[in-house]
Amino acid sequence: MERLPKLDARLLTIASMVREGARCADIGCDHGYLVAWLAAQKKISAGCACDINRKPLEKAAFTLSEYGVADRVKLILCAGLDGLSAGGADDIVIAGMGGDLIWEIIGKASWTRDPALRFVLQPMTKSERLRRSLAENGFDILREEAVVSGNFPYAVMQAAYTGRARTLTPAEAYCGTLLDDPSPAARRYLAKTARLIRERVEGLGRAASPGAEYEELRALLKELESRCTA
Ligand SMILES: C[S@@+](CC[C@H](N)C(=O)[O-])C[C@H]1O[C@@H](n2cnc3c(N)ncnc32)[C@H](O)[C@@H]1O
Repeated sequence: MERLPKLDARLLTIASMVREGARCADIGCDHGYLVAWLAAQKKISAGCACDINRKPLEKAAFTLSEYGVADRVKLILCAGLDGLSAGGADDIVIAGMGGDLIWEIIGKASWTRDPALRFVLQPMTKSERLRRSLAENGFDILREEAVVSGNFPYAVMQAAYTGRARTLTPAEAYCGTLLDDPSPAARRYLAKTARLIRERVEGLGRAASPGAEYEELRALLKELESRCTA
């Protein structure tokens, strides 16, 4: 058994959504722990560790050698998906970035509109904008899980292109499928989301005529707060 890097709960949840035997690209790999773990576990058949900055890629190179998987993972210095091309990977992880940047990276490469690909996404902020952009551009979230790591709740999603574009309700955009998930991690995620929505509602409420978004978010906030205290 090869030695494994220690992954925290967030990275383990991300790893659990990568398919067995996939060729996996980790975009914004930083230290490279995730892809090193996947390769050392032999969960993936090949890997790419990509980062826009040289320093993280150097850290990733060190990690890959340390865990004996440097021959199975290619290092690529590139922005977003610029270093990959159609057919170069099966599963693409984009984690630990803002939701807007994650969508910008996916949206920019036309070859991402391929139903065979899977995207494992973990936004740090603006999750609602990521869910909306995915839905409006024909991507479905196939699985979504909440995880608490370092005392913070995160949402991890597995998405694929289906070509069926749709507009999400505020509840779908802010909570995804976690709205009906009874797990303690999902409850924590909803409580955090409720706090964010409360700030937005308070901001919108200061306008002379708050408008439709204000009313929709107020209704969602009420629902979330009742679920979080139930
Ligand atoms: C906060 S770290 C997240 C690392 C890891 N993915 C995780 O979830 O723990 C963000 C990494 O993304 C890289 N990054 C930021 N923007 C990027 C882009 N447009 N393309 C590729 N990498 C990017 C940064 O250099 C950094 O190493």
